[in-house]
Amino acid sequence: MKGLDMLLSSSVGTSGAQRPLGILAALPEELGDLLDAMRAGSGVQTVTHGRREYHVGSVHGVRCVVTLARIGKVAAAATVSALIHAFNIEAIVFAGVAGGVGRAVKIGDIVVSDALLQHDLDASPLFPRFEVPLLGIARFAADPALAAQLAAACERFVAQEGAALAARFGTQMPRVHRGLVISGDQFVASAAAVEALRDAQPDALAVEMEGAAIAQVCYEYGVPCAVVRTISDTADDHAPASFESFLSEIAGTYSTGILQRFLQDFANTRG
Ligand code: ADE
Repeated sequence: MKGLDMLLSSSVGTSGAQRPLGILAALPEELGDLLDAMRAGSGVQTVTHGRREYHVGSVHGVRCVVTLARIGKVAAAATVSALIHAFNIEAIVFAGVAGGVGRAVKIGDIVVSDALLQHDLDASPLFPRFEVPLLGIARFAADPALAAQLAAACERFVAQEGAALAARFGTQMPRVHRGLVISGDQFVASAAAVEALRDAQPDALAVEMEGAAIAQVCYEYGVPCAVVRTISDTADDHAPASFESFLSEIAGTYSTGILQRFLQDFANTRG
């Protein structure tokens, strides 16, 4: 029996009453200490499937499948599709960093997505710019309850750890924003490019490379999803350096603090 089949027929697979939550990020730093916490708290089974490692176990009281999507919309869509089909997940939470697009969104702030759109999708004049052809949708909504629970965890994280984080990293006191996150297969790194995104989507708060692809797949399969992004850069000419240092020094602290609070709350509300 191959690894995945064995796992699916075992007790930590998908046969129990409660389906697991899928948690993913693009890069390891964006998961914080989640995998270590999972290993410390429960037995973890790791399955390799389609060049991804899926870690199945429990963390902070919630049965989860944790994996890394890698970078870009195709990688993200393929990973979430596997989470849905091979692991029968109940819902998806994506955590990571993003470039700030909204003028009030600063480095160190947190954006919880209410809606997601692919800013580089353009099949015009056949279909309106940004609309997913044949679906007739440009903006995919995050699951309202999941996004609210994620935002509440972020608010608690900022209230409890924000001042210390700001002092430690020399950033301002972090704020939590809710709204539109836009995704595309580009790392946005110039003042002109981020200005063009503001012109095209004036209410966009943040730009990244996976979220809207995940939201589209989740929409098509009726799986609730939510996305949280910490702002690592402002998508301008300083973005590459800011992204690198934020990712290596700070991103993990945010993901650890946010996901721990979210999962504890999720475990309590689900009973
Ligand atoms: N993720 C973090 N920063 C980003 C940027 N500037 N562009 C795209 N994705 C990002």
